[in-house]
Amino acid sequence: MSEVDSKLYAPAPEVVQNAHVSGMEAYQALVAEAEADYEGYWGRLAREFVSWQQPFTQVLDSSNAPFFKWFADGKLNASYNCLDRNVEAGKGDKTAIIFEADGGEVTKVTYKELLERTCRLANALKAQGVKKGDRVVIYIAMSIDGVAAMQACARIGATHSVVFGGFSAQSLRDRIEDTGAKLIITADHQVRGGKQLPLKAIVDEALALGGCEKIEKVLVVKRSGADVAMTAGRDVWMDDALAGQDSFCEPEWVEAEHPLFLLYTSGSTGKPKGVQHSTGGYLLHAALTTKWTFDLKDNDVFWCTADIGWVTGHTYITYGPLALGATEIVFEGVPTYPDAGRFWKMIQDHKVTVFYTAPTAIRSLIKAAESNEAVHPKSYDLSSLRILGSVGEPINPAAWEWYHQHVGGGRCPIVDTFWQTETGGHMITPLPGATPLVPGSCTLPFPGIQAAVVDETGKEVPWGQGGILVVKKPWPSMIRTIWGDPERFKKSYYPEDFKGQLYLAGDGAIRDAKTGYFTITGRIDDVLNVSGHRMGTMEIESALVSCTELVAEAAVVGRPDETTGEAICAFVVLKRPRPSGDEAKAIAKQLRDHIAREIGPIAKPKDIRFGDNLPKTRSGKIMRRLLRSVAKNEAVTQDTSTLENPAILEQLGQAY
Ligand code: PRX
Repeated sequence: MSEVDSKLYAPAPEVVQNAHVSGMEAYQALVAEAEADYEGYWGRLAREFVSWQQPFTQVLDSSNAPFFKWFADGKLNASYNCLDRNVEAGKGDKTAIIFEADGGEVTKVTYKELLERTCRLANALKAQGVKKGDRVVIYIAMSIDGVAAMQACARIGATHSVVFGGFSAQSLRDRIEDTGAKLIITADHQVRGGKQLPLKAIVDEALALGGCEKIEKVLVVKRSGADVAMTAGRDVWMDDALAGQDSFCEPEWVEAEHPLFLLYTSGSTGKPKGVQHSTGGYLLHAALTTKWTFDLKDNDVFWCTADIGWVTGHTYITYGPLALGATEIVFEGVPTYPDAGRFWKMIQDHKVTVFYTAPTAIRSLIKAAESNEAVHPKSYDLSSLRILGSVGEPINPAAWEWYHQHVGGGRCPIVDTFWQTETGGHMITPLPGATPLVPGSCTLPFPGIQAAVVDETGKEVPWGQGGILVVKKPWPSMIRTIWGDPERFKKSYYPEDFKGQLYLAGDGAIRDAKTGYFTITGRIDDVLNVSGHRMGTMEIESALVSCTELVAEAAVVGRPDETTGEAICAFVVLKRPRPSGDEAKAIAKQLRDHIAREIGPIAKPKDIRFGDNLPKTRSGKIMRRLLRSVAKNEAVTQDTSTLENPAILEQLGQAY
């Protein structure tokens, strides 16, 4: 056996036998179908997976490329597809969501109940003046209300924009302003890891910062029941808004291209981008990938541990599993509370069959399990599991092997799913009953996705040679535009370098010389991936220099980190003499707190290094490659002859 063969994990015969996509021949047949008749393939699936109120007559409209349209004259409603359709199919009494609160209380809702809850909320939104096309910002923790709020927006044709509950008032404000939202749905508090954290107070702070004058109402869900300030005329308790509302709301039938949601993500410039997704194409890929990638069956209990504030929570909590009428877990808390066995206990308690999480979580749970047997997966009954998934960042082979052996008992295929906020759903991923697995590789494109690795001119490179990851053809769930900035959309994703013909993912990749399997080699732009959270270096730099009383200049780079994948390292020039010792520690803390206020705690740098200046070329350009070496504590091997001020390298050696 060759090196590569010895690392292959072929799917077990019983997994292949019952799979939706059964065996590599079935996978190849789908790939061939899409290649032979691209539009025919997607059209067939769109009819199979989505219920249309008005059927589409055209699959793909490329007349205004790269602003592609899919199924444009079709009409549908995403919430109808996720809720009513299942009730009509006799699944009204099936559990849709098993919600487990931070403290362990479990609440279940059936499809019928979720439909009614969504409808009442949809009617309440209408009563507050929200109409088709309006934007609604949702700033809430993991909850049934969060999912219902998204579904309610979809039901009335309002475009939701969920902001992750860990973002600061400033970040929230920026997003509210950019969306031009009319209404916010939030909660009094969120509860995570036994702690009660404010949400409503942060909304108040965000609105007080100004620029959000279009906001008319704030609906507040009671989570903690603790006192929060309510502004008369603007703030309404959700219970009051829901009182007397009818339990049915006629779905608003929208065009397939109608924006279902905006979700902000980081790019290589300072300002986060509002990624705009469609209704029809997005929903198709959400449902399709949930079914094929997770081989989801009617009796599965699906658990995606992502937060609804990220795209993974949109596609694989709110839309995909519900569109298929599945039973899923929604978890409010954190993996390490009350202890690091929480995930394993929940899998055991709810008999979870398909489990989808991030490498960072796995790595931190490995650490915990190694030092405490009680929280090791072997102390729990995980025999219900049949498929495991990984998302958000590369999974290193050691973590993969541990996940496979200790969580999956050596029998569960792991789907390492590569995709992005912009792609709406899986792009490159194994299919459990078909693809032989290689730890650390996301293997092959999802059938119908035409991924490739190219050089700077857009020419495909031979297998075995690294290059730039692109997608050659548009696909249904792709980003439609950047909200309010179509030019930036074109420049970021369909650059002139590739004659506007290739979708640029922003990642590097290499295909295995023998199997053609893809391995993602990391971002090729100034985007960092910390614990699976995406952040722009410029965003963090702007936050640092906005601390005007302290900071003169700042540069941010990433460095590898064992647990979080990447860690943020900031290089800072202060407006005062370079500090050291306790003073440096105190200033570093001040800067971290400042960033937490500006962006959110997730953006706090792990290392802060102070210099009298930053290493620059004589023409004044910051030498980032050199900073990356310094961040890694590597000996600087680069040519420093062009460096204007070599002495500062030494100063930067100390991290605080
Ligand atoms: O760099 C890739 C990495 O995460 C980026 C997308 O981040 P975001 O839009 O926040 O979406 C995360 C959830 C889909 C990608 O450009 N990434 C995502 N999945 C993988 C990955 N890197 C390696 N392997 C993956 N499976």
